[in-house]
Parts: sequence; C-alpha cells; structure tokens
Amino acid sequence: MLYFILFITLFCILYTSQVKAQTCSVDTFQRNECGYAGITQDECTSKGCCYDSSVGSSSGIPWCYSNGINSEYSLSQLSPTDYGLQGILTISKGQNSIYGEDIKTLKMEFLIENENYFRLKITDPNDARWEVPSQYSDRPTKTHKVNENDIKYTWEINDNPFTIKVIRKSDKAIVFESSPIIAFKDQYLEITSVFSGDMNTYGIGESTRLNHALKTNMMYTLWNIDMPAKMMDFNLYGSHPMYIHHESGSQSSYGVALYNSNGIDVALGDGYLTYKAIGGVIDLYGFLGPSPEEVVQQYTSLIGKPNLVPYWSLGFHNCRWGYEDISHVEQVVKNYSNAKIPLETQWLDIDYMDEYRDFENDPENWSYTDVGKFIDNLHENNQHFVEIIDPGIMVYKGYDAYEQGNAANIWINGMDSNPYLGQVWPGPVYYPDFHNPNTQDYWTNQLANYHKKIPTDGFWIDMNEASNFCNSDGTGQTCMNPDPENCPTGDDATQTDCCLKCTTIDETNKLAFPPYKIGNKQGNGNLGTKNIDMTATHYGNETEYNLHNMYGIGEAIMTYNAMAKITEKRPFLVTRSSFIGSGKFTNKWTGDNAATWNDLYSSIISIMDFSMFGIPMVGADICGFMDDTTEELCARWIEVGAFYPFSRNHNDRPSAAQELYLWDSVTDASKNALGMRYRLLPYLYSLLAEAHWLGSTVARSLWWNFPTDKGTTGIDSQFMWGSSIMISPVLKEGATSVDAYFPSGKVWYRFRLNDDESSDAYKMEVDATEGGKTLTLDTPLTEVNVHIKGGSILTLQDAKMTTAESRDTPFTLVTALCQHGKAHGTLFRDDGINMMDKSDEGTQVNYSAEMISKEGKRKETSTSIVITSEVVSDAYAKDEIKYIIITAVSGLPDASSLNNIHTKLVINKDSKTVLTHQDDCKITALASGALKLEFNGLDFNVNKNWSLEVSY
Ligand code: NOJ
Repeated sequence: MLYFILFITLFCILYTSQVKAQTCSVDTFQRNECGYAGITQDECTSKGCCYDSSVGSSSGIPWCYSNGINSEYSLSQLSPTDYGLQGILTISKGQNSIYGEDIKTLKMEFLIENENYFRLKITDPNDARWEVPSQYSDRPTKTHKVNENDIKYTWEINDNPFTIKVIRKSDKAIVFESSPIIAFKDQYLEITSVFSGDMNTYGIGESTRLNHALKTNMMYTLWNIDMPAKMMDFNLYGSHPMYIHHESGSQSSYGVALYNSNGIDVALGDGYLTYKAIGGVIDLYGFLGPSPEEVVQQYTSLIGKPNLVPYWSLGFHNCRWGYEDISHVEQVVKNYSNAKIPLETQWLDIDYMDEYRDFENDPENWSYTDVGKFIDNLHENNQHFVEIIDPGIMVYKGYDAYEQGNAANIWINGMDSNPYLGQVWPGPVYYPDFHNPNTQDYWTNQLANYHKKIPTDGFWIDMNEASNFCNSDGTGQTCMNPDPENCPTGDDATQTDCCLKCTTIDETNKLAFPPYKIGNKQGNGNLGTKNIDMTATHYGNETEYNLHNMYGIGEAIMTYNAMAKITEKRPFLVTRSSFIGSGKFTNKWTGDNAATWNDLYSSIISIMDFSMFGIPMVGADICGFMDDTTEELCARWIEVGAFYPFSRNHNDRPSAAQELYLWDSVTDASKNALGMRYRLLPYLYSLLAEAHWLGSTVARSLWWNFPTDKGTTGIDSQFMWGSSIMISPVLKEGATSVDAYFPSGKVWYRFRLNDDESSDAYKMEVDATEGGKTLTLDTPLTEVNVHIKGGSILTLQDAKMTTAESRDTPFTLVTALCQHGKAHGTLFRDDGINMMDKSDEGTQVNYSAEMISKEGKRKETSTSIVITSEVVSDAYAKDEIKYIIITAVSGLPDASSLNNIHTKLVINKDSKTVLTHQDDCKITALASGALKLEFNGLDFNVNKNWSLEVSY
C-alpha cells in the first residue's frame, strides 16, 4: 500500500511538473486564457493554471493561462478532386484532452476556387459541424473550375506532419505557411501561420488602437460586444478575422481570412499568427494580392462587395442622443443653416421612441404629425432624415411589434424553449431571430408600416451585438421578470440596471462555459456577459454560440431587403455590429468613442481597418461621443471627420452640446473642411461607386498607396482618399503645425477651398520625386492640410449647403500633372439614388492628360497640353464642364503670356469647336501659377468624348 501511495505521489509530482513545464513556459502570445481579467493568483493556480502578471493589463495577454497544444496530424490518401485536392488527416503526435478530446481523423481540402485566392478547409468527415451559411455572403456554393494556367500560385504539401505552403508564382513569395501544430476539437480549433519576422500585420478587428500595424506579442479577441469603442485594445462590436501582411518597403502584400463566426482569439507573435476558434471549422482563405488594394478586391469578391450608397449620404450628418423634442431638433437644423454649415442629414436617436419601443413615437414630444412635418421640410430643402432602430422588441401586451412577433414565432428562444428574455432600453425584450427566414416578412411589415408614418431615408441599426443589460456575469441562462411594475426602472435604478432575475440552469453547459475561454474583455469574460446567453437557439436549432457574431449582419440583411422593397431605392444603413461581409448591406460607424485627442487619433486607424474589411463607408463620432468635447478638439475633429467617408457628429446624452455652430472657430473649421469635402463629392462618390463595382477601398493609409516607400510605414496620422488626395490633419492639443510626410516619387499640390485668382490653391508644395519628404506645415486652428498627388485628374463641383445643390453646379476638372507631365483620373456618375444592376447604367469616364514640349527649328520651345475624356458608358449625366484647371511642376505660361495660348476643344470627334480667346473660353492664371480655363455657351458635358489642346 505504502509503495502504491509513494508511486501515486511520485506520478502526481512528475505529471504536475510536466504539465507546468509544458504550460508555464509558452511564449506570452501563445498563452490561452485560463481564468478571467482580475482573477487572483490563488484562484488561478488552484485551477491548475499558470499565473504571471508581469505582462501588464493592456496587452490582451492573459495573466492566468495555460497551453500545451502541440498536436500534429499526418496526411494520407491525397487525391485530386474537381476543384483541387483532398486527403485525410490523422492525429500523429501530441494527442491530448486540453479543451476537449482531439478529433482524430479529419478531412483536408485544398480548394482552387479562384486564380487569385485559395481555400484550405479542414472538417470532421464523420460529423457535420457549424459553418457560416451561404446566405450571409457572396461565397459561391459551387466553385467554378479554374484553368490551370491561370492559377497564380503553387503549393507544397508535407505529409507528416501535415503542413502546407502556398507560393505566389510571380515572385515566389510565400503567402501562407502553416505550422505543424493543428488542434481540432469540438470547441477548440487552432491553426498557425508562420512568416518572416519583418512582416507588418494589419487587420484583425474590431478594436480601437493607436497603431495601424498590429503590435506583436498580443492577443486579439474577436467576440461582438457592446463595449465602448473608447476602450483601447478591447474586443468591440464587430468580428473580422482577416489580416494583411506587408513587409515595409516591399511591393508585396497578401491577405488571409478565417471564415469562422465563433469566438476567436488571434495570438500574434514575431513571425507567428495563431487563430484559436471555439467552434465551426477551419475554413481559411489566402488572397494573393500582390498589392494591398488587390487583396481587398479579391477578399470582397468572396465576401460581397460594398453596397452602393446614395449620393446624399456623402453629405454631413448631425446626430445626438438627448434632444428633448422635435422643436429642439428643428432649431438645431435652423442653426446649422444660419451658420452656413452644410447639413445634409439630421438623425434621431432613441429619444423619439415611446418608452423606447421601436416603431412607436412618443406622442407628446415626437408626434407623427410633427416629425412628419419636420421630415417634409427637410426633404423640401434637399435634406435628409435617418432614425435609429434597436433589435430588442419590448415585451408589452398590445404592442404590435411584440404581438406580431409572437404570432409569427420569430424570436430567439432560451434554454427553456420560451422566447429568450433580455433587457435593453425599453426594459424586458425579445430578440427577433434574423437567422429565421420568416423574420424577413415580420421585419419588412414592421418597417413598412412605420415608414408610412415616418418616411425615414435610412436606418441606424444599433445595439445589435445583440446587447443585453442583463446577464452581466454571463451565467444567467434564462431570465424572468419577477416585478413587472418596477421593470425597467424600479427604485433608484438607472436605465441600464438589470431588472430581470437571471438564473443558471446548467453550470456545466459547454456552450455557456466552453473549455477554452477566449479573451473577451466584457465583465468576467464569459461569452454571455451582457449578451444573449449562448444556449439560446435560433431557427433550425442553431445556437447563439455559433451565430452570435452574425446577429448584426443578419439584421443588416433583413433591414436592407426591407428598405429596398419599401422605398424601391438604395437603402442606407449604418450599423454598430458587423461581421465578414456586412459591407454588402450596411455601412458602419465605429461606436462609442470619447472626446479625447487619443480617440481622434485612433479614429483614423479604425477607418483604415474597415477599408480592409470591405466596409469603406465608415466614420467615427465627430467631436467624440462620450464626455464633453472642447472647442479646439471639436475644430480639429471636424477637420478629420470631414474626410471620413461617412461624416457624422454624434454626442452622448449626458455630454455638453457639440453641434458645429456652437463655437466660431469650429464653425469656420467646418465651413472650410466640409467645403473641401463638398467640392470633392464627385471624386468621393466615384471612389465609393468603384468600391461597390470593384470591391476597392476609399480611405487608405499612406503605405497602402506607396508600399515601396519605407517612410510611409507607421504613419497613422495622415491618410488618403483613393490614390489622389492626402489629408494631413492636426491631431495634437495646442499644435498649430503638422509634420507631414510626402511619399516618394511624386509631386504634391495644395488643395484649398478657395481657388480664386489670389489663392495658392493647386500650387506645387512639395517635390518628393527624389525621395519622401517630411515638411512642417503651418496649420492654424481652422485649417487642415489637403494635397493632390501629381498625376491626378479630379472632378469637382461647387461647395453648397446640400449635396443636391452641389450636384447641380457645373464641373471643374483639375489636372495636376506629375513631374513627367502626365495625369489621369476617372469619374463615375449616376442618379445617386436608384438601385443599379450594372455599372454601365451610369456614366463612366476615363480622363488622361499629357504635356509635350517640342523644340522648333529656331530653338524656340512650343508646348501643348492635351487632355482627353474617353467615355466608357454614358447612360447618365448631363453635367456641364465649366472649368478646367491645369497645374504642373513647370512649363506653364505665366499671367503675362496668356495671349500666346491657343486652345482647341473637340467634342465628340465630329462636332468641332476651335477656340482662341473668344467668349467661350477665357483663360486666367491663378496666383499659384495654375491655369484656369472657363468655358461658356458650349455643349460641353461629362458624358461626351472630347479632347482639349492647350498650346503655347
Ligand atoms: C449606443 C450607441 O452606440 C450610441 O451611439 C447611441 O447614442 C446610444 N446607444 C443610444 O441609442
């Protein structure tokens, strides 16, 4: 007996030390959460886990951790299929029961679905598992066969241990290489890619950060929650398990996405990226690039290209939570107009609702008649209206949305098979199940009936993670309402205090408490914390555990479909919660930031992230949502926010008012920055339309456009619109200058709102042709630096108070020649409101320009600049071209020699117009040296082919 006890003791000591050695010495970034944020050392070690607090609290690295996953699989029976290869993986090493038993036999498929991307899929051949259903994306249900010669990559597969490497043919770059360690358990999947240590990793969101390139030795968690965006490095409202790699200064980028909706931790080390997903399958795509822009185009061709936004949505939006009644809002709109700040769209937050019930207005302060009149006035003025809607439907007898939901049986159900009861603004709510196809009719009917009373132009879909004010520790599997009289308010309770009684029915439930705990930062980190419980079920008995991260996209799809049907126009939606593919249906704002300089700075990074995630129409709350803003911060914020693709001021209920007209300096800053935005609307719209048709991006980092320029790496304080416009704002308190970087190989011209003769607009400010340059630019409080990249042709209209008025003004074409005397640009134009099936239902034009200087017999130089417009499709657009501005590095005639200029304009080849200083073409020189040609009385439209020759 004694021997036996000794043996057992020895075994335990050896075993424990082995486990310890295995778990406690792992790289920090590979640590798996074993407790929760704030766990004590004693509690942690009592669970058999390792404890180390030295990593600090902001790194995302767990203090209480375990690991020990070192399982490998070997490949057999590799055989070709119609679409690639498939084989069987068998566990060959490191079998363990950490986080559950290993699934010992797996199916591996390497799918050549597209010449530009590959797919690695690992599933359980014996058990169908949860996969993201096809209705949530553009993913082909049946793959097309790619011609072998067109495939732009090769692959190398190692059998034992199984690893796979994918190589881009053009430059032999490795775009994906798996490490031998693979875990595949019911609730824990792990796959790691290894890469050269010089790579910068971008993407993996949603999180707020002060750096665009992700910091290494960090854990990034993807789990949608109602967590204020002001929290740095926390998992927030959306899940986008996609990254792009780019080596500083190199031509080459590639992207990888794990198409998985379950909770995911991404551990990023130096040279490693590990996905740790707690369900689903390994469904990994690799996008070849080689430019970052191509990566996003390839990615969005798979997940769905961004929705085509209405033209009006490009205008400036004003919103706040806390307007008392409709007359308050009417006054706000008037104040904007009196201050001459362009206001396109006024929004209403939940204030308008009757006891926070969707589809019902408070009859006293927000009556249908009054709000209806307000909307009519807005519309008469070419302005627009957007209203908030939350998914939680109040449990309230006689309330139509509730009764109809009951009748249609479309709620998410709880563990007890009754509709899952949660709490949001109205108090107790049920949640529509947007995974249930029957919910579409219910939702469309509710929206349609409401829209008859309140003809809103768009919907703001908020709280759709879905947020729940109960279940604060994530253990409440079902909740009930024990005291309906006092729920939601109760004595001394605030709106967000839970008034329901939630109980744990099964504390061993593996969905609510999975064996591997992702690093969810909400509360104690349980998945259900402030969410619908994981055991709740959707249509088809699918669990909240699997569908949670897709609730927002589900709501977006159904709201998009409903609005398309109701209005027969392009829907305009803005969501808080997002997932892979959301951009096809909705736009996004980045949630609850705060009025701080750091939040202003990080907003640029968030906008860049969503460009990568296929949601180009994105913006942060201008002037900051939480806390009181300051005059200076608000002025600087509108100077950045005017260049968010989606530009909206929004403010929290307890915070001091921050409408742009409240301070003189903010008014001036707004007129200037928004004025520039409105001048650039045809350019911005063309970019957003291209994003829809081609899947391209709008707001871009400097490195994105200049990947080979090492100087652009790490610049997060400047950004670009497309490839032609660069914005270099002030982001620091008290600063009146900006150290702006001008990327290499280009000349850069100043863009200004005022481009009259005395202005230095279009002046070449920096010649960076020989190498990138940093310049200190004076930037007084009401100014923001905007530059045009040499080589661009931009289409402008006049800055007016609404986008409709702006659209009515004639075009100005700015031709900013590069150092070699060339330029090009594109225009996309349509009615901006109706649905479109094909891009050629609009007008598409390509512009190009060239300056040619010749030496004559007597050594005299003659120069001609030829600008041509080539129409690709002319289905829409009557817009007149009135001005052509030409700016160049050198070689333009100055003001004293304008008489020597001859111009010849040929429109549509046959109809010839020759002009030399007649009334139909006036030429002036601006102070900046740019030439301005003004055309009058000609049939000179953007939907015509033409060429203009300016010679001197
Ligand atoms: C939370 C949203 O993030 C915020 O923008 C909104 O004002 C409040 N909900 C109230 O609706």
